[in-house]
Amino acid sequence: MKRLTEFDITQLEDPTFSRAVIDWQKAHGRHALPWQNTRDAYRVWLSEIMLQQTQVTAVLGYYARFLERFPTVQALAEAPLEDVMAHWSGLGYYTRARNLHACAKRVVEAYGGAFPSDPALLAELPGIGRSTAAAIAAFSYGTRAAILDGNVKRVFARVFGVDQYPGIKPVEDALWRRADALLPANGEGIEAYTQGLMDLGATLCTRGKPDCNRCPLQERCVAYATGRTGVLPVPKPKKATPEKRALMLAVVDRGQVLLQQRPESGIWGGLLSLPEFDGHVALEDADQVDVATLANAGGEFGDVAEVEPLLPLVHGFTHYKLHIQPYRIALAARGGTPAGHVWWDLAAIVTAPLPAPVKKLLEQLGQPTLFG
Ligand code: ADE
Ligand code: SF4
Repeated sequence: MKRLTEFDITQLEDPTFSRAVIDWQKAHGRHALPWQNTRDAYRVWLSEIMLQQTQVTAVLGYYARFLERFPTVQALAEAPLEDVMAHWSGLGYYTRARNLHACAKRVVEAYGGAFPSDPALLAELPGIGRSTAAAIAAFSYGTRAAILDGNVKRVFARVFGVDQYPGIKPVEDALWRRADALLPANGEGIEAYTQGLMDLGATLCTRGKPDCNRCPLQERCVAYATGRTGVLPVPKPKKATPEKRALMLAVVDRGQVLLQQRPESGIWGGLLSLPEFDGHVALEDADQVDVATLANAGGEFGDVAEVEPLLPLVHGFTHYKLHIQPYRIALAARGGTPAGHVWWDLAAIVTAPLPAPVKKLLEQLGQPTLFG
């Protein structure tokens, strides 16, 4: 009996998948790119590194000039790094150029100038990840190995209806298993298959509007069948916006409320607002504040007669969410008005220069039916 814990990759196999990609690539894919129609691993490797983070059209000129100056891996390995950098200048992501030079030296020293055909060995070289290693091995040696670059992830996420962000480890692992299982049996047509996946991602199954009506995978595409080509792949989840809380004191006396000038800088700069018990603090630190503490805080403004929590409200800023817990503090007698504070008639609260959530809160306070 099969152990349940062992994943059975044959369940994911589907020979019609690679067939569809290969047939489409031969009829409609790209065939005249300068790094195609060669088995020179040096040329293939160079193109794959340049194409890692750069579009084909931007790479073309650089590729030609680079090969003219460094026609072989030996020439590249012997060149000074500054020369290599100069020929990379403008392509961006310069770590690629430093790795390229280091990789050329290693290939010359460790392999006598011949790139290995085993993707696992290729992936040990500087600047070559798992997907790039597979592409180099497939194009240079016909090695049966799976690629999974950003474009292929997008195609797979759509075809298989993957509704989780493909950048997280378990989802990526699942996609690699798919990629392995779907390779053509015996590696037959691996070059056209590998190029076909790249071409699909670059020409039909694009990020913006995929051209599903020309797509050889349409009939098996979950995103197409369920109208989700616009939402798959799922974008990287945004970090949760931090939540803060503020305890606001609505100190009231004889139909007036005490307002405080906000500092010019910072949120609500220049407006009036309610005095706060302790600035804006992280929500996790929002221990229940007891009434005696608040009565004590209110004592700054006079003799406190009554402390009463009001309905909390939540206000969304661009960078955080503020939970406002207001307290009504009724005075029996006013003390002096502290600096930067002003008493305002609740009946005229609409005229006060207040932040919107505070105004909303005070308008409620002005309604005698609710709060006396
Ligand atoms: N992007 C990455 N590798 C590529 C290739 N071989 N052809 C076209 N675009 C690519
Ligand atoms: Fe992409 Fe559309 Fe093809 Fe699905 S049918 S793989 S969404 S191009």
